[in-house]
Formats: sequence, structure tokens, C-alpha cells
Amino acid sequence: MTTRVNAPARVFPTTIEDVLAEMRIAYYEAGAQYLIDGQVLRWDGPFQEVLSPVCIGDGQPKPFALGRYPLMTVEQAQKALAAAKRAYDHGCGAWPTMSVADRIGHMEAFIPRMEAVREEVVRLLMWEIGKTLPDARKEFDRTVAYVRETIQALKELDRRSSQFAVEQGFVAQIRRSPLGVVLCMGPYNYPLNETFTTLIPALIMGNTVVFKPPKYGVLMHTPLLRAFAEAFPPGVVNTVYGEGRVVVGPLMESGDVDVLAFIGSARVAAVLKHQHPRPNRLRCVLGLEAKNAGVVLPHADLELAVKECVLGALSYNGQRCTAIKIVFVHRSVADTFCRRFAETVGQLVVGMPWEEDVAITPLPEEGKPQWLKKVVDGAVASGAKIINPSGGTIDGTLYYPAALYPARPEMEVCQVEQFGPVTPIVPYEDEQEVMNWVKSSPVGQQAALFGSDPERLSWLVDRLVNQVCRVNINSQCQRGPDTFPFTGRKDSAEGTLSVSDALRVFSIRSLVAAKANDTNQKIVSEMVRGRHSNFLSTDFIF
Ligand code: G3H
Repeated sequence: MTTRVNAPARVFPTTIEDVLAEMRIAYYEAGAQYLIDGQVLRWDGPFQEVLSPVCIGDGQPKPFALGRYPLMTVEQAQKALAAAKRAYDHGCGAWPTMSVADRIGHMEAFIPRMEAVREEVVRLLMWEIGKTLPDARKEFDRTVAYVRETIQALKELDRRSSQFAVEQGFVAQIRRSPLGVVLCMGPYNYPLNETFTTLIPALIMGNTVVFKPPKYGVLMHTPLLRAFAEAFPPGVVNTVYGEGRVVVGPLMESGDVDVLAFIGSARVAAVLKHQHPRPNRLRCVLGLEAKNAGVVLPHADLELAVKECVLGALSYNGQRCTAIKIVFVHRSVADTFCRRFAETVGQLVVGMPWEEDVAITPLPEEGKPQWLKKVVDGAVASGAKIINPSGGTIDGTLYYPAALYPARPEMEVCQVEQFGPVTPIVPYEDEQEVMNWVKSSPVGQQAALFGSDPERLSWLVDRLVNQVCRVNINSQCQRGPDTFPFTGRKDSAEGTLSVSDALRVFSIRSLVAAKANDTNQKIVSEMVRGRHSNFLSTDFIF
């Protein structure tokens, strides 16, 4: 059963039988599995029970018991790291010394195995993190496309590196080589896609990987363990489960992690970095916090601005790093914008992730509705109003979106990353006020401008591009297309991820150079012609 935001009603199923048969799920026993050194094993230690954000029951529905995953010990996590270290073997292992074409072959073998578990992963995404069916399918398909695009990008990179450079009496071949053992940690909102946008490029460049799923969105990785085990040599991919502070801290403290690929909070990233005993050796690829602003200028197409701001602020309940988390609206259009924004939010469909047209679904984070309420109450106490009927209603794990007006930049709701369905709307007179807020913000990922006046837009664009890393005109903030650079300033990111940039961040340029005399030319030619080296090669990968 579904309802609209402006008419709260019972939407949780009474029994599991109320759920469409093809969307039902049973307790997921397979979650007890993990992957170390090429083997999918069954954990027999302590477990973490997984509760779905989807509640079931009469009266007061309770979160559905979805399954369990291993609560690993430090020793077990260290085994995973040791397996990755062995497979890398200081760059001498079979995987880092393999030819690019052969590594691509392994990645190609992974794709059909991944596609074979699509429906299982999609179902787990819905039940584990409350992602809607179309969004869960999109996340899966976009990730498969990302793997394919990564292979293409590596082929192009390899073709360019297949030539020899002749410079100032030297002949050299310059390629990109791996960095070592990568610890990959993705976020709960895109547990598959964001994990894979670091894990896949890291692997294909010859690194070995230990990956730890986020706190929520763990079980959905289980169907992929077998695919990893079958497609890649032992030790190239390993998993670690459990409490971050128990299993991740010691891995960082060991100094054996060469690259930290982490998408999550700036606070946790700082802790992890500092745990490494040789920080200069540690490379970091980080996707952290964001507080992207939407700015509605006078003469903006308000229909479009409302549509994009609602989508930008509330798709997947606002749980996207790229979400619009604050809207600045010019006073001259504020009343109309707010009225239409509230009407549009009021019409959004609330329900279970698999239901038709559903937009607002249960939240996976424990205690999140109550935390959102506290932040909203603070804004209301300081003079803002919830402008959409029923905004802020809590029903178990559901939080009905709340739009707040007039919000002021100093309110907590305008400062923190709410990562949920709450939208503060701040009226302004002069664009300089927007820039003042942007300048003082500790983060700088994207902004979205809505307007039609080229001069006013340009004034903001020229200033914003030095404060954030993507300015969207008349459209919401977003990461895609995945070939575009995705990064941020300040505490929003470190390193740039696009399909091709990711290949660079997980590798370093290495070259083989020789004085271009007859003897060396003969030796190098024979190394290449005789196919004695995987690095020195002029092969063209089709
Ligand atoms: O949570 C951050 C995601 O990378 C955002 O991706 O803009 O495509 O939703 P998206």
C-alpha cells in the first residue's frame, strides 16, 4: 500500500505475505559467507544481525529480520590483508606482473558472473537499504556499464602507452603500474556502485584489494563473492566484515595498506589516515561530505527549478552525496517557489521500495528519523516553518519529507549534511549572500543554478567553480555521466574519479629507459619481439 506525503497513512505490510511474491525475501543465511584468498568460506564466529528498514506487522510494525553477516575478529581481518599482500608480493605477484590484456580477460570473465546475480542483488538493495526497485536496478546496471567502460578506458590508455618515446638520446616506454594493496570502503547509499567505482579500477590496474562493505548494504555483496572467486586469482579480492573500529583500525595501523579508497564521512577518513604509521606512503582516494546548494535566481523557469530541486533534494530520500541539501531562493520568487515546492513534495508517493511510483521509502540508518526531527525542531524554534502539509511526520523508519522556510544560513539544518529528506530554503536578496555561505562552508562538491540571465549566472559560475568542482545550470547536482570528473574541494574529496581518472589514481607512471645506442636498441627490440616482458610491449589491444 502506498500513500502521498501530504496524507500519511499505514504503508508497512502487515505480514510478509502482503508483499508481492516476486519481491518477498526470506532470512538470508548466505550472509555468513566471506571471501579470503580465493575461497568463499562460511563464518562460524559471532554475527551481526541485519534488520531491514522495511517494517512488518500489525499495530506497531517491526523491522524485518533480514539476515546476518560475520563480525570478524582482528586476526581474521589480518588474514584478509595478508592474502592481498601475498597476491601483490611487493609488485612481483602474478596479478601485478600480468599483461594488461590478461587482466582485462579476468575482468571480462567477471561481467557475466556479476550479471547472473542481478535480481538477487537488486532485491537485497531494496530490503537492506530501502532503495526503490528502479533505482536499485539502475545502480546495478550502471555499475556493470562502469566495468565495461573501465575496460575500454584501459584499452585506450594502453594503446597510447604502447609506443616507445625517443628523447635526447634515450629510448623509453612509459606505462602505468599498480600501487599495492588497496583498502576499499564504500558508503551505504550506493553500496554497490560507489564501492565498485574504486574497486574495479584498482583491480584492473594490477593492485590487490581488501574491501569492507559499509554498515548498511552488506548482504547485497554476498552474491558477488563467488563471481570474484571464480574470475580473479586467489588473494586478488578479499572481504572484511565487522565493526570498522575493530577490523579497520588494525589494518591501517599495520602500515600494509598502500591505498585507502574510502567514501564516507570526513571524520572517519581523518581517523583512518592518521592510523597509518607512514602517512607519506599512503595514497588516498576519498569521497566525503557535501552540502550542495541549489540557487534559484530571479527570472528562473520556476517549473523546472521546482522539479529539479525536488528531484535533487529528495531522490532516494535525499541520501545521495550529490543531493541538493540547501536551496537559496531570490526573495522576488520565493513565495511562488515555496508554494510549488511544497505542492510537488506533497504529491510524492510514500511506500515500500518495490511499489509503483514510490519515491519516499524507509530509512536504513538507526535513529535517523529522530535525528532529523531534532534538526528540524531546532530550525522551527529559530523561526522557520515546515511549509508542506505532514512534513516531518515519523512512522517507524519512515520520515515524511520536510521543507523549511524561511531558513537562515546559521541554522544547524543549513550547516550539517542532513543526508535525508529535509530541505532548508533560504531567501536572499543579493547573490553575494549565497557566495558568503559557500565560502564559509567546510565542503565544496557541486552547486545547481536555476536562472536565465546570462550575466547573473556568469557572475556566480566564475566564483563557484573555484569553490566547488561542478556547477550545474538548470539541472540538479549529480555524479553522472561517469566519464565526467567527479571530485570535490575542501572536505568533500581527495582525488578525482571518472572512468579514466580512476585508472590514474590507482596507478603510478613507471618507465623503462635506455640510451639509444645500437646494443641497447637490439636488446630492447628482442625483449619486445620475443615477448619476454609484459611491461615492455607494443601489443595493440583491440
Ligand atoms: O552519493 C553519491 C553518488 O555518487 C551520487 O551519484 O549523483 O548519480 O546519484 P548520483
